[in-house]
Amino acid sequence: MKTRILNEEGIKVGAALIREGELVAFPTETVYGLGADALNAVAVAKIFEAKGRPQDNPLIVHLDSADKLSLVAEPTELAIKLLAKFSPGPLTLVLNKKPCVPDIVSANLSTVAVRIPSHKVARALIAESGRPIAAPSANLSGRPSPTCASDVFADMDGRIPLVLDGGDCDIGIESTVVDLTSEIPTILRPGYITAEMLLLELEKIKTASGKVLVAKAPGMKHKHYAPNCTMVLADNAKQLVELYDKAEAEGYRPVILSSSKEGGAIKNRNIIVLGTNSREVSHSLFKALREAEKQYNYILAETVEDVGLGKSVMNRMKKAAGVD
Ligand code: TXA
Ligand code: MG
Repeated sequence: MKTRILNEEGIKVGAALIREGELVAFPTETVYGLGADALNAVAVAKIFEAKGRPQDNPLIVHLDSADKLSLVAEPTELAIKLLAKFSPGPLTLVLNKKPCVPDIVSANLSTVAVRIPSHKVARALIAESGRPIAAPSANLSGRPSPTCASDVFADMDGRIPLVLDGGDCDIGIESTVVDLTSEIPTILRPGYITAEMLLLELEKIKTASGKVLVAKAPGMKHKHYAPNCTMVLADNAKQLVELYDKAEAEGYRPVILSSSKEGGAIKNRNIIVLGTNSREVSHSLFKALREAEKQYNYILAETVEDVGLGKSVMNRMKKAAGVD
């Protein structure tokens, strides 16, 4: 078989080949894929043959839009949420599969891996063919994944009819694979989308090494308690005075939120007294922030001792100042 290499103008040719049950290698943002019509078992069998891939290794089904998820998989709330955040892009989700997906795609599992690539050539090929496209990386089994058309050609020359050349892959490593059918969502293969990124959307995740990571309490990741002007923390009167005078020299209207009895050291400066102990400070902090931002544009808050109730006060102060 003669293997052609075409650039973007070959998308229509590629789409026709896919519909006819042939293989087409195509670029994605991660690595090049070796695609076939995912709903055509005979076409998919050619992928395993061309790659020399063991039949027990399931394939990823590529869609051009998250709206089409239910064509091949059972959508779950979590899947929809993750796709809304990370797709199109380098995230593959393992979900329960629809019966129309041939067993050869999923290596006889009841699940199917789905991903919506962001590369425009990949999306155009899927859209133009009108088929979900099953595709592993376009290398001979066991070789490194190809990240440019010439690397695909080196492995696939004579084995497939067409390589679509979309230049170098942006990311260069394969997608993150996350199993959403396990009790705790589980990263089966780490990739560009990290556990930390996923934890912004999930409560818990099991990493590829088997460790369970838990998200911070909901809301912790968002900016909280912040006044609408600069806010800086200082530990003592000396620091407060220095920062105050500097801010004033720079043209700000500063104010000190004081939490100590050191009023003397900071006299003749704008000051709002929060109190002299954690109880008083916790009572007045938020009210003082609102009052301060109305008249001033630079808030200097004096920290309290980070123990007991003071810990909670410092948690809010740090968040307000954007340092936590
Ligand atoms: O970035 C990528 O994911 C690239 C591009 C082409 O999209 N594709 C890719 O495919 O790397 P492949 O076949 O090289 O890797 C697919 C991975 C394998 O580790 C496979 O075991 C896993 O996904 N996988 C596929 N279906 C699965 C399923 N139903 N359950 C668990 N793992 C599955
Ligand atoms: Mg691979």
